[in-house]
Amino acid sequence: MSTLAVYPGSFDPLTNGHVDIISRGVRMFDRIIIAILVNAEKSPMFTMQERVEIAREVFKAYPQVEVDTFNGLLVDYVERKQAQVIVRGLRAVSDFEFEFQMALMNRRLNAKIETVFMMPAEQYTYISSRLIKEVFSLGGRVHGLVPELVEQRLREKGLAKEA
Ligand SMILES: Nc1ncnc2c1ncn2[C@@H]1O[C@H](COP(=O)(O)OP(=O)(O)OP(=O)(O)O)[C@@H](O)[C@H]1O
Ligand SMILES: [Mg+2]
Repeated sequence: MSTLAVYPGSFDPLTNGHVDIISRGVRMFDRIIIAILVNAEKSPMFTMQERVEIAREVFKAYPQVEVDTFNGLLVDYVERKQAQVIVRGLRAVSDFEFEFQMALMNRRLNAKIETVFMMPAEQYTYISSRLIKEVFSLGGRVHGLVPELVEQRLREKGLAKEA
């Protein structure tokens, strides 16, 4: 049987922490869908289309990685896709409580779906999309923390704001 995993998130923007989790995921699962949550935040920095484009470009060499968007209940989306697994990343103890709640709630909603937690490489454990946006908007360097394409897109947004 082939295993399909869904990796949900807002990916606003995709960071090297996300990339690390996906790269580990492709070694465990036959296919992974990066599922970008519609309307997770009211004013995202990157539009849905930009986030999809970025993820597709970054993983273009991986035929087993698919990029999609979803809204509504995650377990309903996972079921629709006929996936068996939800992948989540765990950075620190601070992620644990919320992730634990979500995993158990999702299990209650659909007991056939299993949540799998993965830990990133140490150098990515402190990275979040929110922190990247904050540091970048204050003029800090995010090189090495996000894919090159994201760095480039951030710079374009920065310039657009100044103009
Ligand atoms: N650096 C990282 N290492 C491991 N897992 C991560 C990392 N960043 C995010 N994740 C995980 O990826 C999934 C999707 O996360 P999400 O899109 O919310 O990213 P985020 O960086 O937490 O963004 P935000 O700061 O907007 O909350 C979650 O399971 C989250 O725990
Ligand atoms: Mg988060």
